[in-house]
Amino acid sequence: MAKGTKGKKTITERELHKRMLELWERGKSELCEVRVSEIHGRGVYATRDIPAEEKIIEYVGELIDKDESGQRGIDQAEKAELHGDAAVYIFTVSKKYDIDGNFPWNTARLINHSCEPNCEAWQTGKRIHIHSLRDIKEGDELTFDYGFDIECYEDHPCLCGRAGCIGYIVSREQWDQLDERLGRGKYAGKAS
Ligand SMILES: C[S@@+](CC[C@H](N)C(=O)[O-])C[C@H]1O[C@@H](n2cnc3c(N)ncnc32)[C@H](O)[C@@H]1O
Ligand SMILES: [Zn+2]
Repeated sequence: MAKGTKGKKTITERELHKRMLELWERGKSELCEVRVSEIHGRGVYATRDIPAEEKIIEYVGELIDKDESGQRGIDQAEKAELHGDAAVYIFTVSKKYDIDGNFPWNTARLINHSCEPNCEAWQTGKRIHIHSLRDIKEGDELTFDYGFDIECYEDHPCLCGRAGCIGYIVSREQWDQLDERLGRGKYAGKAS
């Protein structure tokens, strides 16, 4: 074990290169591509009709423990403060691990959030794939529910543009709470 690596095994450049190639291969999909999004920045669009419950693309990245994930979150928040880039690419996998998908070869990182998503992230072991929730037409933007916690909801206004948009990127499970906080009543459920 190399000195000064806090108990973590170091890997050779060759191994690192091999791992990156594997992840790049796994992150490819014939079913979608990156385009400029009407929701925000870049997004991912269906390149053909996709039936419901189809595996579309893997959300690939580096498997990291919670300490490392927390540190990267802090680094990202500092960067966001300096440059205004608030994108988050960390995906929760388990109580111990997260996936950091902030790599150019992880196309799925560019999938935007929607209050009426057509996709969902499914986890198998420590891997995450994006699946279609319903039939998707060629040219439709792929979206999923980011599942953000209601805390700091004001920092994440939602621009998904759907009729049922709640107005903020907040997990659907917390919509009732959000409506209450916004004084909109339980069944308002619409952006004002
Ligand atoms: C993982 S990135 C998604 C890709 C992003 N569009 C880009 O070009 O980098 C997540 C960021 O995209 C933006 N975003 C995603 N969905 C959004 C939505 N429904 N409304 C507003 N902004 C959204 C937010 O800034 C969020 O932090
Ligand atoms: Zn929305």
